Amino acid sequence: MRNVILIGFMGVGKGSVAREVIKNSSYMAIDTDDLIESMENRKIKSIFEDEGEEYFRKLEKNIAKWLESSVKNTLISTGGGFYKQTNLKNIGIIVLLDSPFDAIIKRIKAHPNAAKKLKKRPLLADLKKAKKLYDERRPEYLKLADIVIDVTKKSAGECSKELLKKVKKYA
Ligand code: S3P
Repeated sequence: MRNVILIGFMGVGKGSVAREVIKNSSYMAIDTDDLIESMENRKIKSIFEDEGEEYFRKLEKNIAKWLESSVKNTLISTGGGFYKQTNLKNIGIIVLLDSPFDAIIKRIKAHPNAAKKLKKRPLLADLKKAKKLYDERRPEYLKLADIVIDVTKKSAGECSKELLKKVKKYA
């Protein structure tokens, strides 16, 4: 089984879809933000505050190198900026979870833990800036993706079924 890399904007549901995929398949799953937080023993928000974004991107680079050399048969969910790593294609099949900006924000706000979800993401603090980032990134996400899943109005379970079906063709 080749690795599957989930990319997409903050809050689109990469974590939720990953959890559904592992329930319905033999993939193991890891998350690049979780790896960074455990290696650094602090939250992403603190890393951004204490060291700045550039430092965080260096950590992502180290993870990307390790994923390419050492990880197999795994579903890898990533932070929204991880797609900038230049070796993504060597890591696995790239799956974009796609949704309009407004639908993503609506999804986050509908969550019982909405305040926490917004607070933990430094790049979502200013919604105007976040929209600009979304507009810059979306064409790049689309260009990179082997598979695109429109997650709007679909449950994580439905997205995971669609993912597994589409990924089969790349196996
Ligand atoms: C980021 C997305 C975040 C996290 C960090 C930076 C980004 O992950 O990696 O705050 O640049 O889009 P999520 O996409 O899981 O929110």
